[in-house]
Amino acid sequence: MPAPVRKAVIPAAGLGTRFLPFSKAVPKEMLPVVDRPVIQYVIEEAVDAGIEDILVITSRHKKVMEDHFDRHPELESALEAKGKNAEAATVRDLSSMADIHFVRQGEALGLGHAIGMAANHVGDEPFVVLLGDDIMRGPVLKGMVDLYAKHESSVVALMEVPQEDISSYGCAAADAIEGADNAVKVTELVEKPAVEDAPSNLAVMGRYLFTPTIFEEIAKTQPGVGGEIQITDAMAALMGREDMLGFTFTEGRYDTGKKIDYLRAMVDLSLQRDDLGPEFREILAETVRREGIV
Ligand code: G1P
Repeated sequence: MPAPVRKAVIPAAGLGTRFLPFSKAVPKEMLPVVDRPVIQYVIEEAVDAGIEDILVITSRHKKVMEDHFDRHPELESALEAKGKNAEAATVRDLSSMADIHFVRQGEALGLGHAIGMAANHVGDEPFVVLLGDDIMRGPVLKGMVDLYAKHESSVVALMEVPQEDISSYGCAAADAIEGADNAVKVTELVEKPAVEDAPSNLAVMGRYLFTPTIFEEIAKTQPGVGGEIQITDAMAALMGREDMLGFTFTEGRYDTGKKIDYLRAMVDLSLQRDDLGPEFREILAETVRREGIV
């Protein structure tokens, strides 16, 4: 029986340079999508996939993320005194979604370095990594955990992108696995290749499941693209020792650190809400007519 996947690591220490000026004083992971910050969606996704323990890699400018998942007794009492018990419960429940821990990455040395900071916390167990500004709808993480249960290998989420966009991502070459719809065997991984050097248009998409061996490889990884310690390089080294599977999917990912994708997330996720969706649909339809969009 493979060990259960109980722990998640959420790297959320980045500077958010694609979302200035907003991200100067407020972390991009705290951008609201309707009424919840992006990182709350990410943590809910982890909890839905069976994760019980979460370590967020943060930085000294991002204390407000910790406050969001802490108790707020004054607010809870004020809401209860006004009979707003549902709202009070919403506020209180944020602190009991999972065991949520925070550790600071003192210097921005890269995604691989950030994940490496979780080594002692994770110990000798498989774990998932969810990038803190990627919202993922649909069963991607759950599918990855199921794949691990079957193969006991590390798994990375992969999605095809237009070839000209591949240099924004980690890129994977992969072989089909017979009889498996969403699973492939990764044969090569390269971080942000030039379009003409890319081995495919399969991009790494912000969700990873690792065996603890990855920490040994991270510790040996030298700075790569952008002078940063890249998780993709540590994964490529891990592939010399263990299998690496890919979980392929086609939709439901929003890179909210990017303005245009944030707008898409706001529209799509608002439409899915029972309380706001019907009215918002009418507003959107009116906008589409007025602007002559279709
Ligand atoms: C990171 C990873 C990259 C991955 C991307 C999207 O890059 O290094 O391999 O494809 O996230 O999940 P970043 O967007 O932080 O530059």
